[in-house]
Amino acid sequence: MDTLAGLKRTHRCAQISEAEIGQQVTVMGWAGKVRDIGSLVFIDLRDISGKVQLVAETPAEILEKAKTVHLEYVIAAVGTVRARTGAVNDKLKTGKIEIEVTELRILNKSEALPVQIEDDTNVKDEIRLKYRYLDLRRPELQKCMVTRHRITKIARDYYDQNGFTEIETPVLTKSTPEGARDYLVPSRVHPGSYYALPQSPQLYKQLLMIAGYDRYMQIVKCFRDEDLRADRQPEFTQIDLEMSFVEVDDVIAMNEGFIKKVFKEVLDVDVKTPFQRMPYKEAMERFGSDKPDTRFGMELVDLSDALKGSEFKVFSSSLENGGSVRAINAKGLGEKFSRKELDALGEFVKTYRAKGLAWIIKTADGIKSSVAKFLSEKELEDIFALTNAENGDGIFIVSDKNEIVFDALGALRLHIAKKFDMLDKNQYNLLWVTEFPLFEYSEEEDRYVAKHHPFTSPMDEDIDLLESHPEQARAKAYDIVLNGVELGGGSIRIFDRDLQQRMFNALGFTTEAAWDRFGFLMEAFKYGAPPHGGMAYGLDRLVMLLLGKDSIRDVIAFPKVQNASELMSGAPDVVDAKQLDELCIRNIVKEGE
Ligand code: AMO
Ligand code: AMP
Repeated sequence: MDTLAGLKRTHRCAQISEAEIGQQVTVMGWAGKVRDIGSLVFIDLRDISGKVQLVAETPAEILEKAKTVHLEYVIAAVGTVRARTGAVNDKLKTGKIEIEVTELRILNKSEALPVQIEDDTNVKDEIRLKYRYLDLRRPELQKCMVTRHRITKIARDYYDQNGFTEIETPVLTKSTPEGARDYLVPSRVHPGSYYALPQSPQLYKQLLMIAGYDRYMQIVKCFRDEDLRADRQPEFTQIDLEMSFVEVDDVIAMNEGFIKKVFKEVLDVDVKTPFQRMPYKEAMERFGSDKPDTRFGMELVDLSDALKGSEFKVFSSSLENGGSVRAINAKGLGEKFSRKELDALGEFVKTYRAKGLAWIIKTADGIKSSVAKFLSEKELEDIFALTNAENGDGIFIVSDKNEIVFDALGALRLHIAKKFDMLDKNQYNLLWVTEFPLFEYSEEEDRYVAKHHPFTSPMDEDIDLLESHPEQARAKAYDIVLNGVELGGGSIRIFDRDLQQRMFNALGFTTEAAWDRFGFLMEAFKYGAPPHGGMAYGLDRLVMLLLGKDSIRDVIAFPKVQNASELMSGAPDVVDAKQLDELCIRNIVKEGE
């Protein structure tokens, strides 16, 4: 094997162009395709910048050495840049030139690879993740990582230019609730006590406002022990920020500036500001979701008034119980569903707790329906009028508690849009969802929990509902939504101790319990807390959407899989008994469990 022995790289592969023709260059990287045609050997050399073609011809020892190079060998080449002698490759940045090699060093060899680098193979995800360092050599993934870096740089620059200071907050902390389970770290010095890894730096950033830092930002790892999905990882990164002396409009305006800049610099797309704003209630009623994908219509229609007192008990009983009957109209798609597919849609909405799905297909030859026989002429006419139904349309109806109706139809709307390719990847619909409810009822805990977090301020006009009608109180909270994905969210915070106490009471905390957990915040409120608010973006989600990926796994260097393990290193893992002893921890899980 050769060594570098003083050899210095002069260019990255893809930096070389026609401008360098005639120059001597030194490049280093990995061998991609090697083509041996006897008197000539072509090697595609690859580094983080891209590819360049090497040609070995004379003298004989270089030609012979080039013949020993195989896929993914690490090589260094010195040579002269020349115009391609063979076919020009217009697709490649360096496609018009090649390097005539005058010195070739083999710096390291590679065994046959379990994961091919060059093409987008259909290797199983498990193998790709086990050999993630090879997977990460793929140009597509390298592009993702580099773009991620650029986005964090844009964030740092943008907020810096606007007077924000990046401040690091602790990772070993006291639990801050964001609604998920904590990851805990046992303390050796305080046996039986645990740090919690931060679900977000929420309380620290509020304390920094009280400390007078005025505008804070941080690109920060957060940890949440929750079920994984395509857009959720147990550890993920936030662009987190907080501002003093602001109201909702100020936080929104500052952040629209950031999003506009990211879109321009990363995609060269001009997004129009201000973005659309939609109160939560409207988002639910029109789209059945608090993160509506507004790239297509198929909006929900309320049929409740038309079906009040219907003979069809499924509908009328939902209405009598305070629920609703709502529909979507899949325009022009009605006759595209087979009977089997209609049944499958029925099963689909059941996964959202709906009891069933009623459908009416309007055609030139009359109607086909699962429920028409239970409905009067007038009811059918009203349904068609309200949903603007024409021949060829498919009307899908769910009746239940509002929450279930929204959930089921919101999901069905997206399901149908995906099935019929109605989502344009190149369209970016950004909007703010505002006026969230302050609380939501948790069946599991049998009490109200904070919809955002307990430090979110109620809207001024709703403060007095805290005790009388907490379920009606709205929050000064906002989420930014891009194409149906929640990119980020935040709120104006409570900065008055009495109001914070009322909020904790409404959440069912006793005064003692609230002080026990959040006493340091309550204490700080005594000493001049400024009005403040902020938000946090999911950086992984932002990068995913900007790159058109379907999963945040593709934009995280070493992601975890569904069961929260990391396949390459094998984390989490068992530890030595000695380590556990030091921490005063005894495992009660038996081997194999
Ligand atoms: P929130 O809990 O809404 O707010 O989180 C902010 C954003 O973080 C992203 N996110 C995630 N991304 C990947 N995997 C996860 N498991 C995950 N969980 C959340 C989402 C989300 O919008 N402290 C508040 C912010 C504030 O009020 O300032 C907070 O953490 O994109
Ligand atoms: P059933 O009388 O239960 O057979 O229901 C008749 C039709 O109503 C079937 O197509 C069911 O899928 C549909 N259906 C049942 N429950 C609901 C509901 N909650 N909302 C809408 N449609 C329903």
